[in-house]
Amino acid sequence: MSTQPKVLVSRNIAQSAIDKLAKQCQVDLNLTPNPLPRSELLARVKDCQGLVSLLLDKIDDELLTAAPQLKVVSNVAVGFDNFDVAAATRHGVMLTNTPGVLTDTTADFAFTLLMAAARRVAEAERYVRDGNFTEWKLDLFLGQDIHHATLGILGLGRIGLGMARRARGFEMKVIYHDEIRAKPEVEKEYALTFCDRETVLRESDFVSLHVPLLPTTRHLINAQALGLMKKTAILVNTSRGPVVDEGALADALEKGQIAGAGLDVYEYEPKVHPKLMALPNVVLAPHIASASVATRTNMALLAVDNCLAGLAGQTPPNLLNPDVLKNRR
Ligand code: DGY
Repeated sequence: MSTQPKVLVSRNIAQSAIDKLAKQCQVDLNLTPNPLPRSELLARVKDCQGLVSLLLDKIDDELLTAAPQLKVVSNVAVGFDNFDVAAATRHGVMLTNTPGVLTDTTADFAFTLLMAAARRVAEAERYVRDGNFTEWKLDLFLGQDIHHATLGILGLGRIGLGMARRARGFEMKVIYHDEIRAKPEVEKEYALTFCDRETVLRESDFVSLHVPLLPTTRHLINAQALGLMKKTAILVNTSRGPVVDEGALADALEKGQIAGAGLDVYEYEPKVHPKLMALPNVVLAPHIASASVATRTNMALLAVDNCLAGLAGQTPPNLLNPDVLKNRR
């Protein structure tokens, strides 16, 4: 019998990451193109010491009880709202994520959505494909300028700061709000102005969301927040869907209370609010902000490094629940 630890990889990830893991572990890999059904996840993780998970896998008390040998769960994602952190700490299980490696790719995509919504790229593309482009018109698909506009960032973590860096190239004014104000040298370097949340909503031409999903950020953008935004403003969400009250957003877009939105994430993912599906002034993407070949590979490699470190009795580089070190399995 093998003495190598057993690791369940809940979804097929980059081959280089699987190969790295397989050098030191027995790998049980879900080769299907679908997430493991809950009952199968619970059954297959039962005798595992490691789990490489995706954001679709709920890591809660039930799973941690079902897998008494589990030492480490490594998410292939920076977000970890699929983790019950307190339960894992109680069970002595280390949790990790993949920060850093996806920052630039995700910020690139948030900026892509901002530009696509501002310049009505998706609407215009549909117009051409539908055979409607019969003559050049002076007033065809008039949008919002990006250069010299005000970008408001809610949540100035790595990705929020990545947006600020990109905004400099467009000579934008950048204002932000975060629970923790950035260091003066960071504000100076990126010409950032700290404001309260309401001021960011009121004064921005573009509001880009970069907060984690927490009880305090659920529906951070609700009808009241949308009511503060300019009629010409555009909302961009590449964080987590439930940060926005999707029904309220659909109403605001329909009534022209704000001009547009660019969304990569949804409140009830993968479902999209039917009203949003029908509205022309919203650009919809299927949660792909970090989806470049290089970045998805790097995320998988980092998740594997975290997993291997945890299994070797080391502190994983991206440990989310350091309190677990007092009672780790
Ligand atoms: C994450 O990493 O949290 C994204 O949502 C997927 O890349």
